[in-house]
Amino acid sequence: MRVFSGIRPTGSLHLGNYLGAMRQWIAIQEKEDCVFCVVDLHAITTPYDQKQLKANIFELAVDYLAAGLNPEKCILFIQSTVKEHTELAWLLGTVTPLGELKRMTQFKDKSKQHPEYVNAGLLNYPILMAADILLYQTDLVPIGKDQQQHVELTREIVRDFNNRFGQVFKEPRALLPQIGDKIMSLAEPEKKMSKTGNQKGCIGLFEEPESIKLKIMAAVTDTGKEIRYNPSKKPGISNLLTIYSLASGKPIDQLEKEFDKKRYSDFKKSLAEYLAGYLEPFRRKRTELLTREVYVNDILKRGSQKALTVAQSTMQEVKTAMGLEI
Ligand code: AMP
Ligand code: TRP
Repeated sequence: MRVFSGIRPTGSLHLGNYLGAMRQWIAIQEKEDCVFCVVDLHAITTPYDQKQLKANIFELAVDYLAAGLNPEKCILFIQSTVKEHTELAWLLGTVTPLGELKRMTQFKDKSKQHPEYVNAGLLNYPILMAADILLYQTDLVPIGKDQQQHVELTREIVRDFNNRFGQVFKEPRALLPQIGDKIMSLAEPEKKMSKTGNQKGCIGLFEEPESIKLKIMAAVTDTGKEIRYNPSKKPGISNLLTIYSLASGKPIDQLEKEFDKKRYSDFKKSLAEYLAGYLEPFRRKRTELLTREVYVNDILKRGSQKALTVAQSTMQEVKTAMGLEI
């Protein structure tokens, strides 16, 4: 099966990115035919600094490798180096209803967040994402919950396109993790963990152990004393239980038993230890890779060449089906 996913180079990866999306990538690269992308063209739909973007693109590629993507087992590349992504996005834009784009939750959220920067690219963002996915005839898209709506729209685009022009695309499916598809902020457990939110609520994948411990100990918990999983009544503790379970490999009900009658502070102390240990190897690998620029750029170049071959073949098929010159 073909697998495709990407992350925007908008700053260092956080625990939500890893537990929601990347952890699935690392597992699935062993079995399936995977393509992972640094989606730089998506990153420019919200305000950014061009020098910083360049650094972020390289660092996200480093982060992919540090988190465990293996360039021998998957294709890794930068979106803007394969022009077919923007070309297909234009074509798909002609079959995407405007109403659907305006209804997307992410478009509404980001328009509110940056009212001074509501550009057409932000509205068309899901079309480019559909192009990313469809260029590689993708079956599965491993992502966190917030991106599910975009994959649903991609499926609609496929159905409309195939109805009109013949069977060209496969309908991809979103792949969400069983737990951890929406990691919440430690400071505001009703909001998702994000790079742009409250920094006290966001744990970086490569953060120093001391800082991780401070953030966990300061995490907002709920009234009452019980350590029980109940996301609607106890969002703070439930989020910490989810993180603990994923970092330790222990099921949530086992953790509930282990910490029965214990205090929140004991639970947090133990979680902080586990999490710092869990993330330690990532940080070490990242520090090493940051000094190996030639090696990383070589991986990206080879990835881009492999991606291009598949992308060009899809584009020929699409253009022929649509009655365009190839
Ligand atoms: P982004 O950083 O928005 O480009 O997101 C990259 C990937 O991480 C996407 O698959 C998102 O769904 C996933 N993701 C981002 N934030 C979270 C979160 N708080 N919990 C789970 N998954 C997330
Ligand atoms: N929109 C995704 C996000 O913000 C990133 C992305 C772009 C993506 N193209 C993709 C994810 C294709 C999966 C498949 O997280």
